[in-house]
Amino acid sequence: MRLPLIERYRAFLPVSLNTPVVSLLEGSTPLIPLKGPEEAKRRGVQIYAKYEGLNPTGSFKDRGMTLAVSKALEGGAKAVACASTGNTAASAAAYAARAGMTAIVILPAGYVALGKVAQSLMHGARIVQVEGNFDDALRLTRELTERFPVALVNSVNPHRLEGQKTLAFEVVDELGDAPHYHALPVGNAGNITAHWMGYKAYFAAGRASRLPRMLGFQAAGAAPLVLGRPVEKPETIATAIRIGNPASWEGAIRAKEESGGLIEAVTDEEILEAYRYLAREEGIFVEPASAASLAGVWRLLREGRLEEGTRVVLTLTGHGLKDPATAEKVAQLPPPVPATLEAVARASGLL
Ligand code: F0G
Repeated sequence: MRLPLIERYRAFLPVSLNTPVVSLLEGSTPLIPLKGPEEAKRRGVQIYAKYEGLNPTGSFKDRGMTLAVSKALEGGAKAVACASTGNTAASAAAYAARAGMTAIVILPAGYVALGKVAQSLMHGARIVQVEGNFDDALRLTRELTERFPVALVNSVNPHRLEGQKTLAFEVVDELGDAPHYHALPVGNAGNITAHWMGYKAYFAAGRASRLPRMLGFQAAGAAPLVLGRPVEKPETIATAIRIGNPASWEGAIRAKEESGGLIEAVTDEEILEAYRYLAREEGIFVEPASAASLAGVWRLLREGRLEEGTRVVLTLTGHGLKDPATAEKVAQLPPPVPATLEAVARASGLL
């Protein structure tokens, strides 16, 4: 029997027997050993992909949301609110529906992938599209939740990070120890902060003999942590991480420094190369932001910056079906053909 994430890691989470567990049986996602890429094989580097697209709403956000919504319900809240580039919104909407609560989701108008909007709509969230970017939406959501009796479920809510740290637990449980490196995309920087918390907690509990170096990758047009200052007009094809002023700025820097890791930028071209590679060569369909993790590791491999024989884990944060429009742009749909065997055989490349 599959258990709610909160039940599996209860001893490491801020819950009591009075906490009503709101769960969609999140977590327990597969850790898939990649075949390549070629550069990894050549250097004897084994890459594993933690495929978070297989969570109930298709992203890693469900790990944090099960806890944030359970705690909000325990505290007597009737409504939750978040700003979002889409995935947090979809997750909040689903968990609020499950809990019988209202979800208010505040989105940057025009920059949320279609699948995520559809999810929020279907789960019955109150959707507000703001004429601004994610950073504007987050500022407004914080103001809104200070003024009205609504629980904030962005990752500035510590329960979100507590839930998301369980990804590190699952990796260690599966590999038998922490990997040498853990790479992930960085937007609002909650997840890198949470991963690092998780690895440290497991290490302290004697469940792992080492700590990984954390490798955070931002999109080049939205890389405030790399530049060392907020970016006023962030731009990238990876809309999930189109963020100019991350809320968990300090957490990300701490994860990088304490672990001896790095935070670097990858271009949209590198992101798309990794996005295509994962789908076509590995059979793993992710949304563009997720591919930033492989894009960054690929660059390190090409530059000879990863030692022979190391184990690298990538967090593949969201499912490819979240963003069908980008898939259609990157891999073009051919026009229809007449309904004859000859036309079909020709169009299939068999004739
Ligand atoms: N990958 C995906 C698919 C995301 O949706 C996000 C964040 C990230 C990576 C980055 O994680 O923000 O913790 O550094 N999405 C948020 C949202 C901002 O609103 O769904 P982070």
